[in-house]
Amino acid sequence: MIVVQSAIHPAGDHATITSGLFSLFLGVTGFFFLLVLLFLGWAIWRKDRGSAEDRKLRVSVAGWAALITLGLFGLTLGSYFADRSLAFVGGGQAPIKIKMTAQQWWWEVEYQSDDPSRTIITANELHLPLGRPAEIQLEADDVIHSLWIPNLAGKQDLIPGRTTDMAVLPRHLGHYRAQCAEFCGLQHAHMALDVLVETPAQFAAWRSRSLQAAPAPTTAEQKRGYAILTGQCSGCHAISGTPAFGTVGPDLTHVASRASLAAGELPNIRIWLERWIADPQGVKPGSHMPRVPLSAADIRAAAAYLETLR
Ligand code: CUA
Repeated sequence: MIVVQSAIHPAGDHATITSGLFSLFLGVTGFFFLLVLLFLGWAIWRKDRGSAEDRKLRVSVAGWAALITLGLFGLTLGSYFADRSLAFVGGGQAPIKIKMTAQQWWWEVEYQSDDPSRTIITANELHLPLGRPAEIQLEADDVIHSLWIPNLAGKQDLIPGRTTDMAVLPRHLGHYRAQCAEFCGLQHAHMALDVLVETPAQFAAWRSRSLQAAPAPTTAEQKRGYAILTGQCSGCHAISGTPAFGTVGPDLTHVASRASLAAGELPNIRIWLERWIADPQGVKPGSHMPRVPLSAADIRAAAAYLETLR
């Protein structure tokens, strides 16, 4: 069950800090708003009295100014400490290193490792183990995007030619939705990301599964799909263990295991997979996936093969 995007229902340390800051601002500004209303009511009620109370008025204005200064000081202090805490990864464990590259209009996700053979490349899905910090390095290839996982952290821009970063420390299991938060072109609204916070055991299982190459096709239809994917589709997509090495589009080695297709646009089920292959521009106009001229049987074969890539 996917959790609704919400910055005020934090599921991680960094989102807790920003949500706490929001509560502080809401509390302080709410308090002053009520005070202003109270004084306004009081002034209206007393409007017919004379101005014999000048001295008392001066004292209360001075008190009022002091209170406002105190409130603003509190907000400044709160912001300062929240900003400082956000700069730390936290968690007391070695963080997982992830590199995310924003593309028009999808996310490339790379789990880095000192051993290059243990590097995982996936797309549009971020797996995170519960209670372990992750340091995400952010880059963009085309225009400025912004990563926003409301339940885990605030927004961070991804800027071409510059590297930024974000730290998250998930504290609740769940399937969260993330979204590109910077207008980046035609399909900006459809540039989403599934974020799965899993138990350490589930995460380890996912990681070892993701390190495996694609299985060989077995049925005749799957073999036909394999020929299409490693032929017409290989200029853009990579499938580990096959001759497909393209890097323009998402890596498809484990595409069938992902929750959604086309950056959160479609549920990852057979009917949508076939429709996506048949008419990418009908599903996601402007996307960089072209319509490959394939027969209906070819499309079914391609989908049948892709479904084996778990
Ligand atoms: Cu990428 Cu908006």
